[in-house]
Amino acid sequence: MPLMEPYRIKVVEPIPILTAQQRAEALARAGYNPFNLRADEVTIDLLSDSGTGAFSAAQQAAAALGDESYAGARSWFRFHEVVSDLTGFPHIYPVHQGRGAERILFGALLRPGQVSLSNTHFDTTRANVELLGCQARDLPCPQAKDLDSQYPFKGDLDLDAARAALAEEPGRVGMVIVTITNNGGGGQPVSMANLRAARELCREFGVPLVLDAARFAENAWLVTQREPGYESHSPTEVAKEAFGLADAAVASLKKDGISPMGAFLAVRDRELADRCELVLIATEGFRTYGGLAGHELDRLAQGLREVLEPDYLRSRAATTAYLAQLANDGGVDVVQPPGIHALYLNAGRLLPHIPPGRFPGHALASQLYLEGGIRCAELGSLYLGTLDEHHELVTPAPYELVRLALPRRVYTQSHYEYVAEVLAGIAKRPESVPGYRLTHSPALLRHFNCRLEPV
Ligand code: F0G
Repeated sequence: MPLMEPYRIKVVEPIPILTAQQRAEALARAGYNPFNLRADEVTIDLLSDSGTGAFSAAQQAAAALGDESYAGARSWFRFHEVVSDLTGFPHIYPVHQGRGAERILFGALLRPGQVSLSNTHFDTTRANVELLGCQARDLPCPQAKDLDSQYPFKGDLDLDAARAALAEEPGRVGMVIVTITNNGGGGQPVSMANLRAARELCREFGVPLVLDAARFAENAWLVTQREPGYESHSPTEVAKEAFGLADAAVASLKKDGISPMGAFLAVRDRELADRCELVLIATEGFRTYGGLAGHELDRLAQGLREVLEPDYLRSRAATTAYLAQLANDGGVDVVQPPGIHALYLNAGRLLPHIPPGRFPGHALASQLYLEGGIRCAELGSLYLGTLDEHHELVTPAPYELVRLALPRRVYTQSHYEYVAEVLAGIAKRPESVPGYRLTHSPALLRHFNCRLEPV
């Protein structure tokens, strides 16, 4: 069988095609910040894989059966059955999105002054730790530093560093949270061997192990492809094993639930569950809907079944690998080996004439929009660097990357070939790409609200 999408298109949505002049005007009006663009000014939207996937006919049919009763809706029991079977957790709560689950769980687990350890905290995860007066410490494995190596599990937690942090001061570490796949770390997977070792380490020090399982199915697929001993496992078996190792899990279902909204929070301990439930009811909704409508719970339940189908995961991984190959052929390096939900372009290497303080990642992201109407986001010094009061860069990020996030089941091979063509066009004359200067930079969540201009 050739590698092709295991679905065909039944409902279509037109995509806007703008002229170069219209794109230039739109980006200038947006203050050269893609977050300020209107969606109808974007031709191919690779800003996020979150909440942007396409429904299946079966999901729409499931949604039609949605039960909107306030408590104990049939939809809740259908959602619960799928999540319970997948995770094995005794206490499961629906939440409106991942960050809501983080806020509730971390509030119940952490005390001010404590530390959270992670392979890499996603930005909302970090924010929810810091809002509690705690410290979020990222401990990616040393192999993650080499963007070009083919090491298969660059998402792993650095176990030696985690042990040292746990041993440093008893009681200081409040949780270890492992993000699968590691979105903040190049979308790289975490091996089951690493998760098992993290489980043992946490047990030894009496600290809860939490999974941030937003892309649990994609991580499971990469384990079946890359980890010795898992070749004949199904993605469902791997995912179940991963959840089985954790004391608690938060999962934004906007990703591997293939739905616009939703998440779950799952915990093993009854007393911890009670504390979470109290805050859930006060801030999200009753325990059987948690901020979600009945029809959304039904759509999620069906999405969670579909996302673990091997044919779907195989085709999705092949799409990302294909785009990575096309980017490479066009002269653009990507973080290796490619994961699934996104490609991370090495903009620093492509645009060496732009210093970190003129934001090469942002420059490449802007150029992709100007030349092709492609929207994506920088993951470099604009996002992670520290600035002085004149908005000038003081400490650059370790890498200048651009993330092309791939929405699930949305774009076809020809869309990605178009993306690669635009990228290759830029790579032919990189010196023509200008750097950017910040003109407005809010103190918090800079990348969402800043404004820039080309220099
Ligand atoms: N954890 C991870 C690993 C994520 O990637 C995200 C969201 C969240 C938690 C928060 O979930 O959006 O449902 O509140 N990531 C999106 C992205 C926004 O584009 O990577 P949420």
